[in-house]
Amino acid sequence: MIMMGPPGAGKGTQAGLFARDRGLPKISTGDILREAVKERNPTALDAKACMDRGELVDDGTMIAIVADRMTKPDVQPGFVLDGFPRTVAQARALDELMERLGSGPLIVVDVAVPDEELVRRLAGRRICSVCGANAELSTDACQKCGGRLVQRSDDDQGVVLERLRVYQQSTKPVLEYYRERPTFRVVNGAQAPERVAQELTVLIDDAAAARR
Ligand code: AP5
Repeated sequence: MIMMGPPGAGKGTQAGLFARDRGLPKISTGDILREAVKERNPTALDAKACMDRGELVDDGTMIAIVADRMTKPDVQPGFVLDGFPRTVAQARALDELMERLGSGPLIVVDVAVPDEELVRRLAGRRICSVCGANAELSTDACQKCGGRLVQRSDDDQGVVLERLRVYQQSTKPVLEYYRERPTFRVVNGAQAPERVAQELTVLIDDAAAARR
C-alpha cells in the first residue's frame, strides 16, 4: 500500500503504526535518503542539496532506489510505501514495477490535513540527531535511544513553504492519477494520531476487499 499526503500530514507516523501492526516493512524514501546522507554516499549528497531546498530529488534516482528495495525478500507479503510516488512519472514507474513483480493492485490512502495545521506541526517537530525518529512532544531526549533532539534541516519555515508549493505542483496530480481506482481512499489526518490509525485500518481493509 501507499501512504500519500502533504509534508507533515502524518504519513510516516501512520505508515509506521500500520506496518508494525501488520508485520510489513515500511519503506520511506525520505528515511532512505537521510540514511544515505549520514553514510556520506556521493549520490545522496547531491540529493541532500535538493532536500534542504525543499525540492524533489530527480525521478531517475528515486525510481532506482525503490526498484532496488523491491528486490528484497521482505516485501513479498506486502509493504507500506511512505513518500513515494511523488510525481506522476514515479507513479507510472511503480505500476510497471508492480506488473513485473506480479504484485498489486496497490491500495492508496491520502492523509488529508489543512495547510495551517501542516505548518504548525512541522514548526514544532523535533527529531533525534542519532536515530532520526520523530520526538514525542514535550520531551528533551529521544525516547528510543536517548539521542539529542534537533530540528530537521528541511523544517525551517521558508523550506516548509517551498515543500508545500512543490507538493501542490508535483504530487497533487498523483492523487488524480489514482483517484478513480477502487482501492483509493482518503482519511481525515487532522485528528489525534490514534483516531487516524483506527480509521485507516477500516479504510485499508475495505480497500483490500475491493481488490478481490
Ligand atoms: P519526506 O521525509 O518524505 O518528507 P515529507 O513528505 O515532507 O513528510 P514529513 O516526513 O515531513 O511528514 P509526514 O507526512 O511523514 O509526517 P510525520 O508522520 O513525520 O521527504 C523529505 C524530502 O526527501 C523531500 O522534500 C524530497 O526532497 C526528498 N524525497 C523523498 N521522497 C522523494 C520522492 N519519492 N521523490 C523525490 N524526492 C523525494 O509527522 C510530522 C509531525 O507531525 C511529527 O512531529 C508528528 O509527531 C506530528 N504528527 C503526526 N501525526 C499527527 C497528528 N495526527 N496530530 C498531530 N501531530 C501529528
